[in-house]
Amino acid sequence: MSVGASTVQGRTRWIGTSWKMNKTLAEARDYASGLAAALRAEPGLAAGLQPFIIPPHTAIAATSRVLAGPQGEDDAGVVLGAQNAHWEESGAWTGEVSVPQVRDAGAQLVEIGHSERREHFGETVETTRWKVQAARRHGLRALLCIGEPGSVRDAGESAAYILDQARGALQGLSQEDLDGVLIAYEPIWAIGENGRPATVEELRKPFRALEAEFGETVEGILYGGSVNLDNAAELLGIDGVDGLFVGRTAWQLEGYLQLLRIAGRQGA
Ligand code: PGA
Repeated sequence: MSVGASTVQGRTRWIGTSWKMNKTLAEARDYASGLAAALRAEPGLAAGLQPFIIPPHTAIAATSRVLAGPQGEDDAGVVLGAQNAHWEESGAWTGEVSVPQVRDAGAQLVEIGHSERREHFGETVETTRWKVQAARRHGLRALLCIGEPGSVRDAGESAAYILDQARGALQGLSQEDLDGVLIAYEPIWAIGENGRPATVEELRKPFRALEAEFGETVEGILYGGSVNLDNAAELLGIDGVDGLFVGRTAWQLEGYLQLLRIAGRQGA
């Protein structure tokens, strides 16, 4: 149980970041120790929230040690994730890491199916399903990312497209497994430097659809894509949004702390 986790309107709000392919070990430790210090100094900072951070694989173990505190018993209440993990436990898969390996390094969650992995590394609905199953088999949370390209949005098919991605990845899971699944809806056209922030209006329908189908079964449904300090509060106000999954705005600790404060105020 995390230090700060509690429920807002029945649900914890998940506020987290993936650092993607950024940060040296020293930078990762600095960020994690600053975050842990802020959470310990200001316990109300994470009230109603579940913070999570997802370092590159190289920094999971170091980040885990820092978050656990000097004696290993002063847990900062931050869920630590891995950006990817293979579906097999071990074997001849050069360059890959398995769920047991990231768990061993300290990860408690595995991010699966980010659009950058689908686009550049051949992630498919099938591999996302295998990875979700592997994460749950080993007791880690699965953070399943889904999202449509701009052409699908323009055709008015966003909801159908992302429901297909989620159904394909989650099919056959027991309720116990779904209890440890988070979905992050991240429209591809809204992510990264070339993305443009989605409007609240554009997000209502996809979130209605996700909430109707998965709201009662998964642990939470998050939004991601160009989240910043100006739009975070209104994004969290959309029906069905249980949290935010953030890239650039949270790569510097100060940005992430500000997001936690905005989310805390918004949920209060
Ligand atoms: P961004 O990235 O916040 O930098 O747009 C979001 C993501 O890829 O999850």
